Amino acid sequence: MSRSRKFLLAGNWKMNKLQKDLEGFFTGLKKEVKFDIASNNKVDVLFALPYTFLEKAVSLTRGSGITIASENVAYAASGAYTGEVSISMLQEVGVSSALIGHSERRTLFGDTEESVQKRIQACLKEEDFCPIVCVGETLEQREGGKTTEVITKQVKNILDVYKADKKLIIAYEPVWAIGTGKTATNEQAEEVHALIRKLIREAFGAEVADRTRILYGGSANPKNISGLLDQPDIDGALVGGASLVPADFAYMINCAYEK
Ligand code: PGA
Repeated sequence: MSRSRKFLLAGNWKMNKLQKDLEGFFTGLKKEVKFDIASNNKVDVLFALPYTFLEKAVSLTRGSGITIASENVAYAASGAYTGEVSISMLQEVGVSSALIGHSERRTLFGDTEESVQKRIQACLKEEDFCPIVCVGETLEQREGGKTTEVITKQVKNILDVYKADKKLIIAYEPVWAIGTGKTATNEQAEEVHALIRKLIREAFGAEVADRTRILYGGSANPKNISGLLDQPDIDGALVGGASLVPADFAYMINCAYEK
């Protein structure tokens, strides 16, 4: 299948491993990936990592084509925000993308639609800082027939502050599928991805909708990745558990390359 968008396989390590594990991990990954990530035109590879890993990860992956991102970012530029890390602090160590609004941040740490919007706005003020914004419905919302409504609201919230000349990645992560071993079926995932792309098209036109990458997340793994990537509106995956194992994640990266 020929695709207009490059796949993106993004790992999200959450609060796992230690900085000292990075070197062995990347060496293991490199052995398993069957092509040169830096020079290929089919698949991008990214890892969202804990703050204390970032500088070392950037240095270990320099020249490899792998992008290093943070798992969150402050909406303020500087000041009295104990425990927060700003965009310029990330840029200082070579990071130019961040996850925003992951469901674990929303449910466990109080991220709201408003704070998600503020974080996106902070990223878009920069010349080149890509927000990777997560959306997704809970099981209760899906079972209550509210998926379209919930996703539409979350995506409109993103698009309300988006600027079409800037980078944006959206990750659809059904909350009920994250870390549970339950994956959305290919059809369930594609239906929501198509909805997200339609919302982008309505707000910004076909060109922006056609170039914006929409990732699926939620128990994506070596077994289900191929079917997910076959869907026309699924441009890659945001991968938690399976990104912690070099052979598993490399398998997924190779699978995207072979599409
Ligand atoms: P999972 O996590 O692959 O372990 O379900 C995905 C995510 O939360 O980004």
